[in-house]
Amino acid sequence: MTVAPSTPFSELADTARRDFADRNPQSRLQYARAREVLPGGHTRTVLTHAPFPLTFASGAEATLTDLDGHTYIDALGDYTAGLLGHSDGRVREFVMRALVENTSVGGIHPYEERLARLMCARFGIDRVRFTNSGTEANLMAITTAIHATGRRRVMVFNGGYHGGVLYFVTGSPTTNAPYDFVVAPYNDLAGTLELIEQHRRELAAVLVEPMQGSGGCLPSAPGFLAGVFAAARTAGAVCICDEVMTSRHGPGGMAALLDAEPDLTTYGKYIGGGFSFGAFGGTAELMDQYDSNPPSGPRPYISHAGTFNNNIASMAAGTVVLGDVFTPEIAVSHTSRGDEFRADVATVLARSGIPMSVTGFGSMMSFHAVAEPPTDVIASMRGDTALLELVFFGLLRRGVYTAARGMINLSLVHTDEQLAAVLDALGDCLEEIAVETRSP
Ligand SMILES: Cc1ncc(COP(=O)(O)O)c(C=O)c1O
Repeated sequence: MTVAPSTPFSELADTARRDFADRNPQSRLQYARAREVLPGGHTRTVLTHAPFPLTFASGAEATLTDLDGHTYIDALGDYTAGLLGHSDGRVREFVMRALVENTSVGGIHPYEERLARLMCARFGIDRVRFTNSGTEANLMAITTAIHATGRRRVMVFNGGYHGGVLYFVTGSPTTNAPYDFVVAPYNDLAGTLELIEQHRRELAAVLVEPMQGSGGCLPSAPGFLAGVFAAARTAGAVCICDEVMTSRHGPGGMAALLDAEPDLTTYGKYIGGGFSFGAFGGTAELMDQYDSNPPSGPRPYISHAGTFNNNIASMAAGTVVLGDVFTPEIAVSHTSRGDEFRADVATVLARSGIPMSVTGFGSMMSFHAVAEPPTDVIASMRGDTALLELVFFGLLRRGVYTAARGMINLSLVHTDEQLAAVLDALGDCLEEIAVETRSP
């Protein structure tokens, strides 16, 4: 194993970790307790960071309170699932009313059709089916493409993330689902077109995010997504757009803003209003492969099971999220607000003189420990990750919660004062790092 060399940032990060541990004894205790029964202390690897992650006692609007009583501005927004904040009254009341009638019926319920109709209208798809997670949605979208084309190869992108078993942020681990993947270079259209040409007879699908979220909020370069889809379609492959995070951008999702038209799209996160959620949808031709009871009589179909796919809480919550709360108009204004905030973040970073940048689109953004905003994950990873860790702990100490890897997602309930406080905290934190790393 190679040990990373010590840098001025890594030495400060050691101190920041110790300070964090001292400030959070109850979270540390709870984490130790959890580790006795949960390997790693929880069930969501993304939450892990050294020395231990915080345990939260409660969340309200855009704030979180941990077990030691610190209250934070939540600038992470549950990796985009928390678009509505932590306590949206409209979702809560509607779901509670639905659940008072019955917690489950173990069968078909009208909320499922209501949410499906809202999604088809909103995202311009003919048909949709629900799953429990974004991961499952992507697995099913790939299955749809394999079944439709009779081919098995799936093109994905370096830096992409499509779920726990569809991970390409750094390599392709053995825990990935055993598909025949070919990994293409994100934002390199010429390189990708060459690969499509090379695999044109075997490609069942191209699966791509319009902006790589977990890869560091790296948006598709102009023309990249549309160019990939055009070539994939010519090769007879199904174009799958993973909008699990990005469907919040614009009235019909992010692909529409990039003039790229997928055959299938996957959804998740905020649409469930805090409840587990996933969905995949697209053209009637592809999706009707799931019709196990066609009017024209029996024919082969794809089976898609899942006890909780249409659970009442998620279906009811989704109808409020898309029907009442996150209207197309609000999607547009939230994206503008995010663009403005990200520009302010970039100004604070530039002013600090610290080698950091921010990338993103609309209300999603990520820090990078490199001065030049990267366009792919390889460029992003050239930086000193200890710097990102330092900023994470520095922001926590100033009452701002982000992802340890530097992700920020604005929610609908962030106030202007809270966003200003995040910028102040960032400026203050960077100034401290600049002072502490200045040569004597
Ligand atoms: C782009 C993308 N696709 C799929 C997923 C997987 O969704 P889930 O965590 O609901 O399985 C994620 C989760 O972060 C994601 O960011």
